Amino acid sequence: MKQDMISILDFEMEIDETLDLAMKMKAKIKGGGQFQPLKGKHMSMIFEKPSLRTRVSFEIGFSHLGGTALYLSPSEIQIGKRESVYDVAKVVSRYVDVIMYRAFSNKIMRELALNADVPVINALDDMEHPCQIMADFLTIKENKGSLKGLKLVYLGDGNNVCNSLMLGSAAVGMNMVVACPFGYEPDAEITKRAQKLGEKNGCKIEIVREPDLAVKDADVIYTDTWVSMGDEAEKEKRQADFPPFQVNKKLIAHAKPDYIFLHCLPAHRNEEVTDEIIDSPNSKVFDEAENRMWAQMAVIVKLVAPESMSLL
Ligand code: CP
Ligand code: NVA
Repeated sequence: MKQDMISILDFEMEIDETLDLAMKMKAKIKGGGQFQPLKGKHMSMIFEKPSLRTRVSFEIGFSHLGGTALYLSPSEIQIGKRESVYDVAKVVSRYVDVIMYRAFSNKIMRELALNADVPVINALDDMEHPCQIMADFLTIKENKGSLKGLKLVYLGDGNNVCNSLMLGSAAVGMNMVVACPFGYEPDAEITKRAQKLGEKNGCKIEIVREPDLAVKDADVIYTDTWVSMGDEAEKEKRQADFPPFQVNKKLIAHAKPDYIFLHCLPAHRNEEVTDEIIDSPNSKVFDEAENRMWAQMAVIVKLVAPESMSLL
């Protein structure tokens, strides 16, 4: 049966293995070697929203693996408008070996995955951004050696990235504190699920209101935009509600001295994070952006050519 990655928990038991694979591929290819298990394979990349990292990292990553990727822009397919989700899933499955999809709706994401005959990878929707979290964890592992037992603090909007980070942290046993204003909490169901899973894996997933207290002894500080794609109508209200949650010098004084700063990007400099922090030596945001590619390559290999893993 085919496997998808719609939620980070679709890889719940495979996060470590995926990160190891990503590290091996990164070392080999950056060292001048080749690993091309996807020769003759094709991927379609369906975008309903803009992108820099996702588009480039998927397309270049797939070509590193020897395959060919096809970009489909927001105006092209219009899933559910020009054609039913079911028909799109069936048709695209006849051409390609894997579908990458960036969507407005998690409901449509799931409908596409349910009806596609090939693996579907969620490249962001309104609920989750699992590929981002795989790259974040790879970056944390590179800097801290492991994930279990660390403290990650997320400041700002309880959005798609925050939801996936909570689920992923719970799966790997990393403590996570979300500091957000009232009314901007992460999804309630996902929070419950993450807290329950965290208990099982020996870590705590908490939601608090005081940024200063949250950041105390943090190993990782993470933030994202206050206005996600699709939230533009609330821009003014959000810009008024979020400033106390800005990542700045005063706030990070409470973190461990060797904390690392992460941001999925694009960043809105001097809104959710100051230049001083994002440009500091503690900031790993560009390694994190690079790691989108290595982490996704590992996800793709696991979904499309798992037998090739032993050849690395
Ligand atoms: N982080 C991220 O997904 O960036 P893009 O929106 O540019 O793809
Ligand atoms: N939360 C942001 C992430 C962008 C990569 C958004 O959904 O727009």
